[in-house]
Amino acid sequence: MGLEAAGDFQLAVPWWRPAGGQSVRIRGGRPLRGTYALCGAKNAVLPLMVSALLTPHLVTLRNVPATLDVAVLAALLRRLGAELHWSTTDARLSVTICASRIDPRAIDGDLVGRMRASVLLLGALLARCGEACLPLPGGDDIGLRAVDFHLSGLRAMGARIEVAAGVIHASAPAGLLGADILLPQPSVGATENLMLAAVLANGTTTVRNAAREPEIANMAACLVGMGARISGLGSHTLVIEGGLPLVGAVHDVIPDRIELGTLACAAAVTDGELMLRGGRLDLLGAALPALQSAGVDLREVEGGLIARRAPGGLIGIDIETRPHPGFATDLQAPVMALLATAKGASAVTETIFEQRFRHVGELGRMGADIAVHGRTAMVRGVPRLSGAEVTCTDIRAAAALVIAGLGAAGETILGGVAHLDRGYERMTEKLADCGADVVRSDR
Ligand code: UD1
Repeated sequence: MGLEAAGDFQLAVPWWRPAGGQSVRIRGGRPLRGTYALCGAKNAVLPLMVSALLTPHLVTLRNVPATLDVAVLAALLRRLGAELHWSTTDARLSVTICASRIDPRAIDGDLVGRMRASVLLLGALLARCGEACLPLPGGDDIGLRAVDFHLSGLRAMGARIEVAAGVIHASAPAGLLGADILLPQPSVGATENLMLAAVLANGTTTVRNAAREPEIANMAACLVGMGARISGLGSHTLVIEGGLPLVGAVHDVIPDRIELGTLACAAAVTDGELMLRGGRLDLLGAALPALQSAGVDLREVEGGLIARRAPGGLIGIDIETRPHPGFATDLQAPVMALLATAKGASAVTETIFEQRFRHVGELGRMGADIAVHGRTAMVRGVPRLSGAEVTCTDIRAAAALVIAGLGAAGETILGGVAHLDRGYERMTEKLADCGADVVRSDR
């Protein structure tokens, strides 16, 4: 599927391989114990890798998660002409990207179709090369996932954009111009795309109603390290002074708050105790009080966090997903898996994506009592789930089913494991190191 173009990624992480048709078997009921090293955030590293296209100088990213999405983006960047050098120090993966020569026409449509974040190439290539042509992006099937905010923002900066037969054709022969842009919703991807375009545009760009996710601040910090001038970080209004020369940088990817929340749920569901190395409570936003109210104990210690079930047990709570610092939509499915065996009822409302309840049916196969009414899922806690054959339908649904399987009685077989590998580095192997009875098989 074109992944060989990821090149020496495979050499730097010899254990890594795309999951393909593999399945995962979990025998539930074993408490997780030990240390689980969290990775750099998937949602931070992808825009950071694309940021490296803005300069001919070397950009080094440290704490890179070895996930399928990273391998796919690496392959895309190499097709465009970038050179990527991977290395591992203290079990941490780094990549140095050199984009001295870029051919914006060398896009691999197949790879673009595999990942939503590939739409970020639009802003970066337009800004660096004055043109970009790429198929509408793919990614998880969790809703409409339009790119209209991206396109209208870039148009406001002077880009000419047409979409025909599923392909976006964009050009800005005379360069992009700073603009005042109001996003209809604080879209993470649109905020990132406009930042990429704005740092090389002529003049100042203001992005209003910008997203405030920690991954955006992390990307902005890298761009600032490269010489860009961006103010308003962490607020809803970003002001980007464009046109400054960009140099190289060395930048650390922030820890993955979604992986953190997922593993905290896994520790609590199995009544175990995990040291989540690299974990930071300040990244969790509203998910922190929600997890704590649901009976997940999280305590900061040197080098990370300790996660375990609170003495009072798991308790039903109501949650509503919101843009950061609200409750992250990416933690909705994992937390629902936890609430499935909590005392009492929980109302889980999804406000970000239209179709993000596809895990509900799979959790139901395992004995969960969940009824969906529009955008709200009513979860009535049951004493225990039971193992079943289930299918992962997207990255976070996959994480939810792993949590459910770890707590369930009997054997759970997960299909569609490639979804898990898109977002989590070696999750099954790391869980096994913490005492879980989980193995991959080729069936
Ligand atoms: C990013 C994350 C994803 C997370 C999501 C919300 C990455 C790689 N992915 O996705 O894990 O679940 O943020 O926190 O960082 N929308 C439009 N038009 C647009 C753009 C967005 O209608 O042009 C809508 C989307 O359909 C969705 C909502 O806005 O309903 C939020 O989407 P957005 O914040 O853009 O999510 P992504 O960047 O795709």
